[in-house]
Amino acid sequence: MAVTSAILLVGGMGTRMQPLTLSTPKPMLELLGRPITEHQIMKAKEAGIEEIVLATSYMSEVFTPHFGDGSQLGIRISYAVEEVALGTGGAIRNAADSLRSDGGVIIFNGDILSAHSLKEQIALHESKSADVSLHLTRVEDARPFGVVDIDGDFRISSFMEKMENPPTNLINAGCYIFNRSAIEKIPHGEVVSVERQTFPELLSEGARVFGYIDTSYWIDIGNPNALLAATKELLNGEPYDLGERATISPTARITNGSYIGADSTIGADAVLDNCIVGRGASVGAGAKLTTCHIAPGAKVPEGFIAGGNFFGFTELSGENPYI
Ligand code: GTP
Repeated sequence: MAVTSAILLVGGMGTRMQPLTLSTPKPMLELLGRPITEHQIMKAKEAGIEEIVLATSYMSEVFTPHFGDGSQLGIRISYAVEEVALGTGGAIRNAADSLRSDGGVIIFNGDILSAHSLKEQIALHESKSADVSLHLTRVEDARPFGVVDIDGDFRISSFMEKMENPPTNLINAGCYIFNRSAIEKIPHGEVVSVERQTFPELLSEGARVFGYIDTSYWIDIGNPNALLAATKELLNGEPYDLGERATISPTARITNGSYIGADSTIGADAVLDNCIVGRGASVGAGAKLTTCHIAPGAKVPEGFIAGGNFFGFTELSGENPYI
């Protein structure tokens, strides 16, 4: 049966992304002016996905006002809210109840940006009659990731979560295809980790788990530096990009993959190097900022000098600028 549905895991606390996630869930942080989740939804749509369930928990109230029923993006979107976070596996089991289709399901970690071909991953899943298939990529330092062993037929033989001396550099890249029977093996209503519990259990039961290896552009946007790196990568050598109605003084200098959010203002002689400026923020004249995150609506004073800093991120009070 064709793979036409997807689940996006967007309910994590995003602790490594603090302070940016004090007032915004990580998947709703903007990358070039659009939430990370929106980039993923559009990728899924391009691969023929027709319906998506957002599995939410932390700050779940932020998603629905932004995405609604998906009609603006041309895809059907619904929401599975966990009152208590169920972990990645528990979230998949819970969200699957909301899907209309009975076919296989693509599952995305909500903080990954990847140029791999979903269509090719689906084709491999189908040609191998897999129960589950995982996008795999190679990284130089695999310690922060789950790594796999794979045989000559792309079948995964072992799955090892984050360790000090990983035996391979082939990592779980956070995009899976699950057949419905594999999802139904996950206990309902319980906290389950797909990486620590579901994958090793499937392997020990002899399930057909395959890897789709693709080493094109891939980034795990798990922390603030990764968000800056992803911005620079997407800008592909351009010094910066601007949101709508952003105003930049002709004497300001903006370089090295910066993003200046909609309705923001950059004053005279300000210098910004690989920075992200939130919507409606202002950077005063003569400020010099390197690898900084400026919160939506924040006001950086004139002459302010900072490197690797966060400006204006606090716990939510009043209206959320991302809605
Ligand atoms: P850290 O707290 O910094 O580790 O980030 P995180 O909370 O996002 O956790 P992690 O990066 O391991 O999560 C991978 C993906 O799964 C992210 O997109 C999370 O939003 C999502 N996720 C993690 N835990 C849950 C959960 O309990 N429920 C749901 N619905 N999603 C989750």
